[in-house]
Amino acid sequence: MPTALIVLAAGQGTRMNSEVPKVLHKLGGFPMFAHALRAADTLEAEKTILVVGRDARAVAKSAQDLNDEIVVVEQDKQLGTGHAVAQAKSALADFEGEVVVLYGDTPFVRSETLAKMAKAREHFDLVVLGFEADDPQKYGRLVMQGDDLLKIVEFKDATAEEKSITFCNSGIIFTSAPIIFDLIDAVGTDNASGEYYLTDIVEVANRQGLTATAVACAPEETLGINDRQQLAQAEAAFQVRARADALKNGVTLTAPETVFFALDTHLGRDVVVEPNVVFGPGVTVETGATIRSFSHLEGCHIGAGATVGPFARLRPGAELANNSRVGNFVEIKNSEIGEGAKIGHLTYVGDADIGAGTNIGAGTVTCNYDGVNKHRTQIGKNAFIGSATMLVAPVKIGDDAFTATGSVITSDVPDGALAIARAPQQTKPGLARKLFEKLKTNKVNREKDT
Ligand code: UD1
Ligand code: CA
Repeated sequence: MPTALIVLAAGQGTRMNSEVPKVLHKLGGFPMFAHALRAADTLEAEKTILVVGRDARAVAKSAQDLNDEIVVVEQDKQLGTGHAVAQAKSALADFEGEVVVLYGDTPFVRSETLAKMAKAREHFDLVVLGFEADDPQKYGRLVMQGDDLLKIVEFKDATAEEKSITFCNSGIIFTSAPIIFDLIDAVGTDNASGEYYLTDIVEVANRQGLTATAVACAPEETLGINDRQQLAQAEAAFQVRARADALKNGVTLTAPETVFFALDTHLGRDVVVEPNVVFGPGVTVETGATIRSFSHLEGCHIGAGATVGPFARLRPGAELANNSRVGNFVEIKNSEIGEGAKIGHLTYVGDADIGAGTNIGAGTVTCNYDGVNKHRTQIGKNAFIGSATMLVAPVKIGDDAFTATGSVITSDVPDGALAIARAPQQTKPGLARKLFEKLKTNKVNREKDT
């Protein structure tokens, strides 16, 4: 059965106290709405509709960056969760498949839980995700009779007896497109909040002879983010989960609590990550590579057996081939580093291609930017770039070529050639001592004058 996701993200998010819409605040390096979508990956949804309110344009842009197939629809006024889902109706006009309603601010639902809901859908028209709450607070209460869910009562509308129910609504619903839009049409605003409650569709369904049930998940999966405190707690919870997943997948973390992951970090088996490493979005590290302490990586690919750091910064577009080595205080951006190449110390490599087996000496800089445009540096295989070489791009260095230490290379160096581009040294015997004496005498005279 084809599936569509409707992600509700139009709420005001007032408690974030922010100029930025709530769902764009980041968790594991990605806007928080990306997390629920990630969990739903296993459903292989054909369509994803994101319902946004405030700053719809900004949310739409971020959604497109994530996946350009996401359809963003606007809910001008936040008239309730039922009204929010109704906004997705025209985007799903000819869609007859399954519909899953997710919340943009509820990132921790698990794929396994959604699979359980899909299974329950085989026997029920509506499946709601619930959880046993220690402290049910203001959550909607699930009124069950055996396996049947009779209705969901919002806290504000609940009787004292209903408030004593601890089985609560997470908000996630699994049903079909025809059912959900049909039921929402019958939902009104006659309740304590004067809102269109999505939750009312359960009672309507029962009235119409449809069936509903609730599947339970762990309370942690339903954690919502409403303020910065909860955002910080959610980040911590995400990192705990990501570290545990990495360890389970055969990654060595010598100090797990000091390593920070992004939602899409992919580390191969037998990767070793030393303490204090940060993975931004878009990092893949192949098997057996080592990421040494205090390195910061984003948007890069590290080949098998490569070594990075300590104190390395890999920026978007850094591609390190197998067994390459990048050492301390090296920054690499938008560059391909060939197999076995070495960039040991204090170097900037930007917009460059570096061939296999090439050695880049300490203090080398690819001067890629002229203030207006970026230019490429191309270096062949098994070349030797002497320490403190300035490579003024665009420039090409051939295979097996050599640049002398301290050279400023402004024109191409052919295969096998040696380029030396620095002022010749002059040595004046005894002149240093003379110079010092003169400087000291001058200083003494100046002090006498004042
Ligand atoms: C909702 C549920 C409640 C459940 C709780 C779980 C309803 C009526 N109540 O309550 O049973 O226990 O979630 O957290 O559904 N949103 C929109 N447009 C709107 C209103 C909300 O997009 O007009 C979005 C919000 O951005 C949020 C989600 O829907 O992602 C839930 O809205 P929220 O206002 O937090 O619902 P609650 O009152 O907490
Ligand atoms: Ca809420």
